[in-house]
Amino acid sequence: VSEQRVLQLRPDVQLAPLSVEHAERMYRWMCDPEVSKNIGLRSEPSLEKTISWIHNQLQDTHSRPFAVLLQNDHVGNVVLDQIDSYLESARLSIYIGEPTARRSGVGLTAIYQALFEGFMQDNLYKIWLTVHTRNFAAIKTYSRLGFQLEGILRDDFWIDGERVSALYMGILRQDFARVLTIKKVRT
Ligand SMILES: CC(C)(COP(=O)(O)OP(=O)(O)OC[C@H]1O[C@@H](n2cnc3c(N)ncnc32)[C@H](O)[C@@H]1OP(=O)(O)O)[C@@H](O)C(=O)NCCC(=O)NCCS
Repeated sequence: VSEQRVLQLRPDVQLAPLSVEHAERMYRWMCDPEVSKNIGLRSEPSLEKTISWIHNQLQDTHSRPFAVLLQNDHVGNVVLDQIDSYLESARLSIYIGEPTARRSGVGLTAIYQALFEGFMQDNLYKIWLTVHTRNFAAIKTYSRLGFQLEGILRDDFWIDGERVSALYMGILRQDFARVLTIKKVRT
C-alpha cells in the first residue's frame, strides 16, 4: 500500500536562477551563525569569497543554484549540486537566510520546488543530503517532504568545537510522486 503525504505549500515562494546580484545578501546571511554553523561553513565569510562562489557555481555544469524568493524578495538559497548524470542523482542544500522568513513554510516550499525541478525537469532519480544530528528544524523539514534516513555518518560534522554525527538522507523519484500538495493561502 503506497502512503501519500499532504503538504501545504506557500503560493508566494518562487525559485529564480542565482546570480551575482544575490551576493551581498548571501554574504550578510553567511555572517549569521544560525546559517554558517548549520551549513558547515569552513572559513570566515567575505563578499569576495561569496562572489567567487557564485561564479564557480554558474560555471559548474554539475550544479543548479537557485535564489529563494518570498513575494519577490530574496530570502535564501537552495542548490542542487554534485549532479551525477550516470546515477541520475544530486545533492540538495538549503538555507533561509532572512530570520523573519523562517518557520512559516518558506523552506518547505523552496525544497519542494527544488525537488520538482530535479525530478521533473532534470529527470533525476535520487536527491540526497547530509544534515547534522542537532539540526532538528532541517531534519523535520526533510522528513515532511519524504526524505528517508539512509545512514549515519559518525562524527562527520564540527559544531561549536565539537564533533557531531550527520545523517545521510535521500528521496527517490517514486517517493516524491507520493507527495500531494495544497497551495496554502496565508493571511
Ligand atoms: C532548515 C530550514 C531551511 C527550514 O526552513 P523553514 O522555512 O524555517 O521551515 P518551514 O517553516 O518550512 O518548516 C518545515 C517544518 O519544520 C518545522 N520547523 C521549522 N523550524 C523549526 C525549528 N526551529 N524547530 C522545530 N521545528 C521546526 C516546522 O514546524 C515544519 O514542520 P510542520 O509542518 O510539521 O509544522 C531553515 O530553518 C534554515 O534555513 N535554517 C538555517 C540553515 C540550515 O540549517 N540549513 C540546513 C542545513 S542541512
